[in-house]
Amino acid sequence: MATPIDPRTAKAGTADAYHARTHGEPLAAKGRGPFDTLASAETLGVVVAAGDSRSTRHLPMVDPARSCAPIAADLEAAAVRVLRSGRYILGPEVSAFEREAASYLHAAHGVGVSSGTDGLFLALRALDVGQGDEVLVPAFGFVATVEAVVRTGAHPVFVDVLPVCGRMNLDDAEKKRSPRTRALMHVPLAGQGSGTGAVARWAAQRSIFLVEDAAQSFGATDEGRPIGTFGAIGVFSFFPAKILGGFGDGGLVVTNQARLAESVRGLRQHGRSTDGRFAEEGCNGRLDELQAALLRVRLTRISEDLAARRALADGYDRALIVRGLAAPVICKGPCTSFVTGPHPPLALPPRCTSASAYGLYSVRLRDPDLRPRVRAKLLEAGIDSAIYYERLLCDELVFHRVAPADNHFPAARDLAARTLALPFFVGLTPADVERIADALASAL
Ligand SMILES: Cc1ncc(COP(=O)(O)O)c(C=O)c1O
Repeated sequence: MATPIDPRTAKAGTADAYHARTHGEPLAAKGRGPFDTLASAETLGVVVAAGDSRSTRHLPMVDPARSCAPIAADLEAAAVRVLRSGRYILGPEVSAFEREAASYLHAAHGVGVSSGTDGLFLALRALDVGQGDEVLVPAFGFVATVEAVVRTGAHPVFVDVLPVCGRMNLDDAEKKRSPRTRALMHVPLAGQGSGTGAVARWAAQRSIFLVEDAAQSFGATDEGRPIGTFGAIGVFSFFPAKILGGFGDGGLVVTNQARLAESVRGLRQHGRSTDGRFAEEGCNGRLDELQAALLRVRLTRISEDLAARRALADGYDRALIVRGLAAPVICKGPCTSFVTGPHPPLALPPRCTSASAYGLYSVRLRDPDLRPRVRAKLLEAGIDSAIYYERLLCDELVFHRVAPADNHFPAARDLAARTLALPFFVGLTPADVERIADALASAL
C-alpha cells in the first residue's frame, strides 16, 4: 500500500496533487479489480496480450468478450439453462431480471424491453405523449432520443446543452417551452448524471414529464440517487457497448408508478391489456429470456465493473496530466465553468460531485482542427477512437422536417467539434492506457 499523499505538500498541478485532492490517496494504491482476472478470457476465445505499453495489439473502442472474461463460465451456464428450458419469451428469467435490476436501481418497477430505442418510445406512449404535444430534446446526443419522440407523433423542440457535461441547458429550455410542452427528454451522456436533480425539479415545477434517457448511465447517480429514477420514467439500453452490456439488443424501463409499468408491459406486447384485449397500438418490444438470463449474470458484477471503470478513468486522467496533455479539472458548480491549466491541448471529461459511471471516456480538443490528424495518428498506432457525436441532432437529414429555423446551438456545436472518445472498457489495462496516452502525446 503506497503512502497517502498530503494535498498540502503535493506539487501543485501534478497528478499526485490532483488525486490527493479528489481521492485522498495516491494512484498506485487503487485496486485494479478485474484486470487481475483476465486469464479466463481464453474461455471466450479472446487473445489477451501481456500488458505492455510497447504492444502493438489493436485497441478497439470496446471489447465486450474481454470485459466478460471473468464471468465467462457463469454466462455459458446461464445460456445453456435457458436453451434447455424450452421457454424463450417472457418467462422466469425476464421476471427475475426485472426485479433484480429495479431493486439495484431503487425503482419500484422494471419492465424488460427489446432495446433502449423501443423503451423510449414505449415510455412516451405510456405517458400518452403524441400528436399535438411538444417534447424538449437536447440538440446534442444520439438519434434514438429524438426518433422516439417523432415516432409518437409529437413534435421535438431542440434545446442547447451545457458546454461541459452536455446535458440540457435549462435557460434555453425555458425560452423554448410552450403551453404544449408535455415532456422533457433528459440524456445524461457518457454516464455523467450530474445536474439530473436540477433538471427534474425544473420539469416538476412546470408540470412537464421528465423522461430519462439513461441508455449510457446504468449505475450513475446524482444527489445520491440512481439516474433513471428522478422522473416519471427512465430507460436503459443493454446494447453490448453499454455499461451493462448484453449480448444483442435489450433495454429496461423503470418507474415508481404501477400504472405506467402496467402500461409499458401491455404496449411491449402489441398493446395487450390484462384482460387479453388489444385496446392500444403497441409493438413487439419484449426482452427475451436468453438476454435476461445473461444480463442477470452481468448484473451480479456491476459494482466491480463500475469500480473498474472509475479506476480506468482515473488512470486516463493521470496519464494525460503527467504528459502535460491536460490539466486537472475542478468542478466549479453547475457544470458550466471548469478551471484548466495554462493551455493544455486536451480537456478531461467532467468530474463532478455526482458519481459518474463513465459510460465512455471522451476528451475535448482545444483545437478542433487537430481532430482528424489525432485520430489518424492513433489509428496508425493501432488505436481506435470515435466521435460521439459529430453532427447535431437537428442537422441530421431525418429530422430536417422538424428542425428549427434559427438553428442556434453554440454549446452543442462546440462539443460536436471538439469531442473525441478513446478506447474504454473493463479489461483495458493500465499499460494500454499508457500506450494510448503516449500515442496522443506524439500526435499533439
Ligand atoms: C443516449 C442513447 N439513447 C438511446 C439509445 C438507444 O439504445 P438501443 O441501442 O438499446 O436502442 C442509445 C444507444 O446507443 C443511446 O446512447
